[in-house]
Amino acid sequence: MTHSSAPILITGGAGYIGSHTVRLLAGQGRKVVVLDNLVFGHDQAIIDPSVELVVGDVGDQALVRSLFAKFQFGAVIHFAAYTYVGESMTNPLKYYQNNTAEPIKLLQVMQEFGCKVFVFSSTCATYGVPDKLPITEANRQRPINPYGKSKLMVEWILEDCDHAWGLRSACLRYFNASGCSPDGLIGEDHNPETHLIPRVMMAVRGEIDHLEVFGTDYDTPDGTCIRDYIHVEDLADAHARALDHLAAGGDSVRCNLGTGVGVSVKEIISAVEAVSGKTVPVKYGPRREGDPASLVANPALAEELLGWVAARKDIQDMVGPAWIWTNGPYGGRYPQNKTPE
Ligand SMILES: NC(=O)c1ccc[n+]([C@@H]2O[C@H](COP(=O)([O-])OP(=O)(O)OC[C@H]3O[C@@H](n4cnc5c(N)ncnc54)[C@H](O)[C@@H]3O)[C@@H](O)[C@H]2O)c1
Repeated sequence: MTHSSAPILITGGAGYIGSHTVRLLAGQGRKVVVLDNLVFGHDQAIIDPSVELVVGDVGDQALVRSLFAKFQFGAVIHFAAYTYVGESMTNPLKYYQNNTAEPIKLLQVMQEFGCKVFVFSSTCATYGVPDKLPITEANRQRPINPYGKSKLMVEWILEDCDHAWGLRSACLRYFNASGCSPDGLIGEDHNPETHLIPRVMMAVRGEIDHLEVFGTDYDTPDGTCIRDYIHVEDLADAHARALDHLAAGGDSVRCNLGTGVGVSVKEIISAVEAVSGKTVPVKYGPRREGDPASLVANPALAEELLGWVAARKDIQDMVGPAWIWTNGPYGGRYPQNKTPE
């Protein structure tokens, strides 16, 4: 397939999902420039030598202007954000500033330079507690925390920019990103880590005493919460397709990215035990406020609009590479960034 030759600006490209997408796009021969302040990203996660990493902030308009002037970007993929739901409850302004106000500054520069293609990391958290399952794009978006609201506001802003100045966008509502490149060269390393699969890995490796499981009395077959785990390389593929769709003049899209398969916490624990051959130390506790019993996508619209389907639906396909990453050269944790934060 031939792609638009204009360079692509990828914010947050040194983070977990961003780095896998950068690797895919650069591998497809696209010119990629990453803008990441490395607050949570890792310079070691940029492994393609053709990719330029600029350490800086999305909201630094002078820097972003200079990058647009130099590279004449044809598109932006915006991953940069804060992602901790709990912290967003106690410090909402931090989230509205970084996740909503900073992208506005970026969009202002895009408008100045006439760049009209934007791919946005949205989230299933914009739906809140779903009124029906599986979740389609027709479900009402009623986020229950500032994180989800900060993302939904950007969806609205993008809609208005489309109307006002022809910005075409893809709002990709990810479910639970998981897995990593099968060679284990890049992977998931958040600090603190709140995501289930890496936490189960940490428990198996003795980095934490035990895995805490919140709630065993949900209305699900085994009583634990059910989520839709989507492989990070499938997410990356969806971004490539969204870029091509928009570059070809396609309309703005908003769609779910999930497998459509629900997996419970207990099933994840069993999958990690199977791949590691070890028992996961677990403590079962009460439910945590704000955790819906089940969040599962209906991904049909992404197939219809972008020709995208998740290639991996078996949880072993997510857990297997994560085990390789956790036992790889970095032991699941990148070394300290070479560039100071
Ligand atoms: N991980 C998931 O399961 C999931 C699910 C739904 C949506 N998302 C969204 O996907 C995106 C990527 O998530 P992730 O898990 O890769 O997170 P991540 O923290 O690994 O990556 C985010 C990156 O953005 C950078 N960053 C943050 N604020 C910045 C700023 N103002 N300027 C420059 N760089 C900045 C961080 O340093 C980091 O490298 C986020 O927008 C997140 O909200 C993630």
